Amino acid sequence: MRPRDLDGGGRDHLFDRGAAPASALDAADDLAPFRARFALPKDGRRALIYLCGHSLGLMPRSAPRVVAAELARWAARGVEGHFADRGHSAFRPRGSTAGAGTSAKSGMSPGWLDYHERFSAPLAALVGARRDEVVAMNTLTVNLHLMLVSFFRPTKQRYKILIERDAFPSDRYAVESQLRFHGLDPRDALLELTPRRGSWELDRERFEAVLADEGERIALVLLPGVQYLSGERLDVGALTAAARRFGCAIGFDLAHAIGNVPLALHRDAPDFAVWCSYKYLNAGPGAVGGCFVHRRAADARSLPRFEGWWGHDVRRRFLMEPSFAPLRGAEGWQLSNPPILSLAPLAASLELFAEAGLAHLRRKSVALTGYLLQLLENELGERVRVLTPSSPERRGCQVALQLDPGPRSPARFAARLRAAGVVADWRPPSVLRLAPVPLYNRFRDVHAAVRALKRELEA
Ligand SMILES: Cc1ncc(COP(=O)(O)O)c(C=O)c1O
Repeated sequence: MRPRDLDGGGRDHLFDRGAAPASALDAADDLAPFRARFALPKDGRRALIYLCGHSLGLMPRSAPRVVAAELARWAARGVEGHFADRGHSAFRPRGSTAGAGTSAKSGMSPGWLDYHERFSAPLAALVGARRDEVVAMNTLTVNLHLMLVSFFRPTKQRYKILIERDAFPSDRYAVESQLRFHGLDPRDALLELTPRRGSWELDRERFEAVLADEGERIALVLLPGVQYLSGERLDVGALTAAARRFGCAIGFDLAHAIGNVPLALHRDAPDFAVWCSYKYLNAGPGAVGGCFVHRRAADARSLPRFEGWWGHDVRRRFLMEPSFAPLRGAEGWQLSNPPILSLAPLAASLELFAEAGLAHLRRKSVALTGYLLQLLENELGERVRVLTPSSPERRGCQVALQLDPGPRSPARFAARLRAAGVVADWRPPSVLRLAPVPLYNRFRDVHAAVRALKRELEA
């Protein structure tokens, strides 16, 4: 699946030959059948070119069935749907005698009581963690607050938080509000990592320089796994090692990384990471997100946290005791019983990831986005500025563009692309984002999108 090989390597030939090279790439793509497992948005009868998986992933066709199964369980069993099989009295403590029926272990379909446990293994595989280091819960910003409660422990000497200048606004709001919650003034306590002048890339030398200057005063660093605007992939291991050398806690926002790029969180060993599941994980709008807490924090009692009954020792949860005994690992940060109907589509999606295989998906992703970059360069040249690093190691599937020349409004441009049948998006100040997703996008989609871009730029 090397685009240049299939195209014959000629710089100007892709368009001369219409979509033929893209079709050849699609024909050689053994992940191509996965596309049919997704509902593909249409505009009337016209199929859209959907390159917006970085914002909202498409619906697996199996999702309605998985959700319907939980609705049916509710209809048929009422409160007893919390248990894996019939005959259990409601809310009997798991771990008490006689057939507690913990489905994950017995192989039965789980009841709602331990429903979230089915996500541990597949999520751990996606982020390169141990099972007990991950949990599906809440949404990203909620999880970020929960993590900051535990890992941002300001002292008189060490009280600052370092984020990137272009951090996703919700992360910034969370961090600033946490600073104020601790009686700190963000004007003093919030540090920003800025890209090099004229660049969108967050380079490690600058990060290390900030640490060298301020490391002793930084309590916590929060960085993205993949930057939401530029699409740059950061080196989680190297950044974590640097932060830890200076005694700083470090966490990652993996909204744009999970399901997109390989991760090895256990090995790289940040303190925590948080993510949402509606982008590359295709779990639907507002789907339940997730959280990673490294094993070294497994002895949860040593960390302050906000507590809730779903984080309480599962064997004792229904004893209704007044004192809290946290579960070991990430599950100990759960607050409430999970929203089953918002979790169910994630199960549908994770099955597809397991079936396709992560390494396989990544190989296609590198080729697909490489093809997009190649077409952009060949066809649009100077008229677009690509903000995403071209090296596959330093990006996922998203490509971010600025249009050139002139003060074209990216909003209007995105609207015109949409009218031409291409779903992309833009973010202020002027970034157009396109993400070919290996589970459901084709090389032909990329080709058609660049053709539409070219047409609109020339209009
Ligand atoms: C990078 C990043 N961080 C945080 C969020 C906020 O996520 P949530 O609304 O699930 O809290 C988003 C949402 O798109 C995001 O892209």
